[in-house]
Amino acid sequence: MSLALLTVASVSVLSALAKSPAQRDPLSSTSPEAWEHLRRKVDGRLYAGVPFAQQCFDDSTSEACLVARRAYLDETSRSNTFGAYINTQWETCQTTAEQCLLDFTDPNSALPTSPPNKCSQGSISNYYIDVRLPQDISAAFAFSRRTAVPLVVKNTGHDYKGRSSAPRSLALWTHNLRNITFNPNFVPSGCSKQRSSPGVTVGAGVMWGEAYAFAEAHNITVVGGSDKNVGVAGGWLQGGGHGALSNSMGLGVDRVLEFKIVTPDGKFRTVNACQNEDLFFALRGGGGGTFGVVTEATILASPQVTLQAVVVSFPRPTPGSNITQELFSIIVANSIRWADEGWGGLANGFTAIYVNPLISQAKAAESMKPLIDFANRVKSENNMTSARIVATEFPSWGQFFNFFANGFVAAVGQSLALTSRLVNQDNFATAHKQQQLINALTAANAETQSLIILISPPHRFSRRGEAKKIKANNAITSVTPMWRESIYHITTVSPWNWNATTFEKKAQYQRASTAMDHLRRITPDASYVNEADVHESNHESAFWGHNFKELLRIKKKYDPEHLLDCWHCVGWNQQSPRFSCYI
Ligand SMILES: Cc1cc2nc3c(=O)[nH]c(=O)nc-3n(C[C@H](O)[C@H](O)[C@H](O)COP(=O)(O)OP(=O)(O)OC[C@H]3O[C@@H](n4cnc5c(N)ncnc54)[C@H](O)[C@@H]3O)c2cc1C
Ligand SMILES: *[C@@H]1O[C@H](CO)[C@@H](O)[C@H](O)[C@H]1NC(C)=O
Ligand SMILES: *[C@@H]1O[C@H](CO)[C@@H](O)[C@H](O)[C@H]1NC(C)=O
Ligand SMILES: *[C@@H]1O[C@H](CO)[C@@H](O)[C@H](O)[C@H]1NC(C)=O
Ligand SMILES: *[C@@H]1O[C@H](CO)[C@@H](O)[C@H](O)[C@H]1NC(C)=O
Ligand SMILES: *[C@@H]1O[C@H](CO)[C@@H](O)[C@H](O)[C@H]1NC(C)=O
Repeated sequence: MSLALLTVASVSVLSALAKSPAQRDPLSSTSPEAWEHLRRKVDGRLYAGVPFAQQCFDDSTSEACLVARRAYLDETSRSNTFGAYINTQWETCQTTAEQCLLDFTDPNSALPTSPPNKCSQGSISNYYIDVRLPQDISAAFAFSRRTAVPLVVKNTGHDYKGRSSAPRSLALWTHNLRNITFNPNFVPSGCSKQRSSPGVTVGAGVMWGEAYAFAEAHNITVVGGSDKNVGVAGGWLQGGGHGALSNSMGLGVDRVLEFKIVTPDGKFRTVNACQNEDLFFALRGGGGGTFGVVTEATILASPQVTLQAVVVSFPRPTPGSNITQELFSIIVANSIRWADEGWGGLANGFTAIYVNPLISQAKAAESMKPLIDFANRVKSENNMTSARIVATEFPSWGQFFNFFANGFVAAVGQSLALTSRLVNQDNFATAHKQQQLINALTAANAETQSLIILISPPHRFSRRGEAKKIKANNAITSVTPMWRESIYHITTVSPWNWNATTFEKKAQYQRASTAMDHLRRITPDASYVNEADVHESNHESAFWGHNFKELLRIKKKYDPEHLLDCWHCVGWNQQSPRFSCYI
C-alpha cells in the first residue's frame, strides 16, 4: 500500500479545516504549526492515515484498487498496512455508518464503491507516526497534552475490541520496530547475574510467525499464540497471551523478563523484576494501550521441545447429527486428566487439535485413546472419507505451527462480535457439572455455529516445578487469577455483512453475547480481556479480579491526564469522544 505523506499541501488543508466553525474538535483546531513542529520532532515520519480501500473509491479501475481488492482478505497485507484492521468494523464509525469497506464475500464487487457510497475516514486515525525511536513516542505525548488530539497505539490491528483505532486521532504505529535477538544469558537490567536466563528480545512490531521462525533457527521454543500475524509484545502480551503451549509452559505474561516502555510523562523506562516493578506487574496482564507505549520486550526462551500432536477433524455436522455433542462429551470427560498431563490446543464442534511437549509418543497414544477411538468409530459409522485422524510427533513447535497454520486460517477482512469465558476446573468436579458444561457448550455452539474451546489456560504450568522457578524469578502477574483455576477459554463469534444496518450490527453483538450466556450461567465471572465481549458486564472484575485495584492505582500514577485511554481499559474515561463510534 502506498503511504500518503503529510505534505505542506495537506497542512494547508488542515489549516482551512481549522477555520470551519462546524469542526471544533481538537484535531481540526490544532494549528498547522503544531503539526509541523511534531513532524520535525519525528524526523518527518508523520503520515496521513488512509483507509485500505480508498483507492477503489477514487478510481475503481486503477492498479492501486486492484492491489487492494486482491489483498482485502490477506492477513499479512492488513497487518502491514496502517489503514487496515483485521476486523473491519474498527475501521468504520459504527454509530454514523461512515466507512470505506469492500464486500468481504466478494472483494471484486462494484457495489460498495458505487455511488451513493463514498469512502469515509471512520475510526482510522487521521495521522500516524511510524515509530522508530523512543523520542517519537515522547513527542506524541507532548503533542497530545498540548492539543488534546486523542492518541491511539496501533501494532498489527488485530484487536477485537477496537482498542487500536479511534476517530479523529493521532496514532503511534509500532509495527516497524522489528529487531529480534537471542541472548542465552539474558540478565534483566539492574538485576543480579543469578537471574540470568535465555531470552529473546523483540521490537514491539515483531509478529508471532516471525518469532517462531527465529526460534526454529536458534533451536529454542518461544510460547505464543495460534496466529502468525498477532504481535508478540503489544496487546497479546500485555493482556495475557495464551496459546497451545500455555497449559504446560505458561501464559505470555508468565514468561516476560523485561519491557522497555515510554510512559506518558515522556520517560523511556526499563521495566523488570528489579526496577519499575509496579509497571512490570501492570504490563503483565493489565492490557495494552493503557500504561505507556512498549518499544520492546524480552521473553523467556526454552529449549526446543518435541511435540506429540493429535488432530481429529470431521466434515461440518449436518443438522440433526449429534457428533458435536458426543465430541464435547469426550473432551469434557477427559479434560482434567489431559490438562494435568500437559495437553493444550483447541477444539470446535467438529475438530480437536491437541499438542503436548511433555510426554512420549507411546504415552500420548494411550492418553488420547478415548478421542481417537471415538473418531475412528464416527468415521466408520458415518462412512466419512474426508474425516482426518492424525496422531504424530513434531520435532519442534515451529514445525507443528507451520502444519497448523496451513490448515486453519483466521477470519480476515470481516466485521464480527466476539465473546469470551473462562471455564473453571470446578465445572468438571462431578458428573452432573460435566453434563451441565456439555449442555452449555452444545447450546452455545448451536446458536452461532462458531464456538471454540481454547485449551490454553496455564493449568499444569501453575502447579508444577517450572512454574515455581519462574514465579520465584518474577513478581505476580495482573491477569485475573481465574486463569490459574481454569481449564478452557471459550469464544463465540457473530459476523455481519459490509452493508449491515446499525440495528443488524447491534443484533450480532447481542447474538454472540446471548450464546455465551449459556456458559456465563454456570461459570465464575471471568473472561479474557483480549477476546472479550465488547459489552462485557462487570468487565473490571471479569478481566482482572482482585488485581484491578492495584492496576487502577498504577494507571493514575503513570497516566493521570488520560493521554492513553481505550475501551474497557483500566481507568478509562468512558465519556471521551474517542469512544463515540461504539454501538
Ligand atoms: C486472528 C486472531 C487470532 C488471535 N489469536 C490469539 C491467540 O492465539 N492467543 C491470544 O492470547 N490472543 C489471540 N488473539 C487476540 C490478540 O491477543 C489481540 O487481538 C491483541 O490485542 C492483539 O495485539 P496486537 O498488538 O497484535 O494488535 P493491535 O490491535 O495493534 O493492538 C491491540 C492493543 O494493544 C495495544 N498496543 C499495541 N501495541 C502496543 C505497544 N507497543 N505498547 C502498548 N500498547 C500496545 C493497542 O493500543 C491496543 O489496545 C487473536 C486475535 C486475532 C484477530
Ligand atoms: C535494531 O538493531 C540494530 C542493529 O543491531 C541497531 O542498530 C538498532 O539500534 C536497533 N533498533 C532498535 C529500535 O532497537
Ligand atoms: C540447531 O540444531 C541443529 C541440529 O541439531 C544444528 O545442526 C544447528 O547447528 C543448531 N543451530 C543452532 C543455531 O544452534
Ligand atoms: C448420539 O446418537 C446416538 C445414536 O443416534 C446415541 O447412541 C448416542 O447416545 C447419542 N449421543 C449423545 C451424546 O446424545
Ligand atoms: C461410502 O462412501 C463411498 C464414497 O462416498 C461410497 O462409494 C460408498 O458406497 C459408501 N458406503 C456406504 C456403506 O454408505
Ligand atoms: C448487501 O450486500 C449483499 C452482497 O454482499 C447483497 O446481496 C445485499 O442485497 C445487500 N443488502 C442491501 C440491503 O443492500
